[in-house]
Amino acid sequence: MAERHAQLSFDGKEYELPIVEPTIGNAGINIAKLRATSGDVTYDPGFANSAGARSTITYIDGAAGVLQHRGYAIEDLAANASFLEIAYLLLRGKLPTQTELDDWADEVRMHTLLNEEMKRFFDAFPKSAHPMAILSSATNAISTFYEEYHDPTDAAAFDESAVRLLAKMPTIAAWAYKKSIGMPYIYPRNDLNYVENFLHMMFAAPTASYEVDPVIAKAVNVLFVLHADHEQNCSTATVRGVGSSQANLFASVGAGIDALWGPLHGGANQRVIEMLQTIVDDPDATAKSVIARAKDPNDPFRLMGFGHRVYKNYDPRARVLRSYADDVLAAVGIKDPLFDIAKELEQAALEDDYFIERKLFPNVDFYSGLIFRALDFPTRMFTVLFAIGRLPGWMSQWKEMTEDPDTRIMRPRQIYVGDINKAYVPIEDR
Ligand code: ACO
Repeated sequence: MAERHAQLSFDGKEYELPIVEPTIGNAGINIAKLRATSGDVTYDPGFANSAGARSTITYIDGAAGVLQHRGYAIEDLAANASFLEIAYLLLRGKLPTQTELDDWADEVRMHTLLNEEMKRFFDAFPKSAHPMAILSSATNAISTFYEEYHDPTDAAAFDESAVRLLAKMPTIAAWAYKKSIGMPYIYPRNDLNYVENFLHMMFAAPTASYEVDPVIAKAVNVLFVLHADHEQNCSTATVRGVGSSQANLFASVGAGIDALWGPLHGGANQRVIEMLQTIVDDPDATAKSVIARAKDPNDPFRLMGFGHRVYKNYDPRARVLRSYADDVLAAVGIKDPLFDIAKELEQAALEDDYFIERKLFPNVDFYSGLIFRALDFPTRMFTVLFAIGRLPGWMSQWKEMTEDPDTRIMRPRQIYVGDINKAYVPIEDR
């Protein structure tokens, strides 16, 4: 195909901008040299219209509600893949053979313990500490035990660090929970698989044996798989941005955890449940009154778990979860009034002109919390579960960024609109 260009006409001058071609989806108008040739920059708050990278990891068609990792549909992966299998797919670029997967799982198993000194680290937090704060701090803290693996140009060091992070993240998450309820930390058991081991560390106590329920293990696996990557979302862009300064993988992932915590991103799964609970608790609140608040331009309230920067159709992950939620609730024998409210709210929103015009549909966070809740996870752990799921995505995107010859330190420009050339006024004269 002949090389395509876009023409930009500005201030009486013509600029020819090369096109970056995709395999599928939107092409990119390359403006990298625009400032050098014109003196001006582009303006794009939230980078809603800017591609920061070329990527081979995840493809989304937001209009059609399509999500694929390395070319495989999310529905297929959610139905068939184990979490470590999808981690391998994202990090290594291909589905593993059985031997490769077994070796990979063994490698991860070797690193599930935290250094014993980390126990004192957990002790230092107040009991009320949000587990996302502990998760992010602990991710940075464990980097201090592995400083010889910090060189971002060392591929073998990346592999070591990636395996360590995958292995230790569930241990950190479970210990953050144990800390919050004042119970002893439970050590990993390497005879269990990845998800079973996490459940064991979360819910076992030293005083009694704990059997992992296969229904719960399967549901957590599906949830982790559904969260594994989502191209250049806020936390992933943060991981890439921090990594672009050649900060190490642990530091970059720690920053990604912080970005995920926000209620407009992964923190929405906690907020959805809190929102549904207020409807149950308030006799005057109905699905309709909540929708009316969300539509009110003078009220900052938003319908949590609704809307998405990229999806202008039903989020395919939410679609899987909606039907899966029915099965899980039935399997664990729970009738949750919040689930009925959620379905009512969804129905009311999907029929409302405000939501129809803006193409606002349920996103992954709308139903995930209901499943986590049915599986007995406390609400404040929901975003932590999202983080464990998203970890392979963050790390594969970080790796792709470090290997891309186009990568430069992330350093956007600005358009200055403030005062200039003012004379300093001595403090007594102000
Ligand atoms: N409730 C009510 N109105 C909404 C909602 C919502 N949940 N989401 C978007 N809108 C409205 C906006 O007010 C805006 O209306 P306007 O055109 O009249 O000003 C319009 O829809 C477009 O919304 P933007 O905020 O411009 O969309 P953006 O792409 O910047 O934001 C976001 C996307 C942050 C996800 C937003 O939809 C939102 O706040 N949703 C609720 C929080 C949430 O569920 N976050 C999880 C996202 S998925 C994830 O991160 C895993």
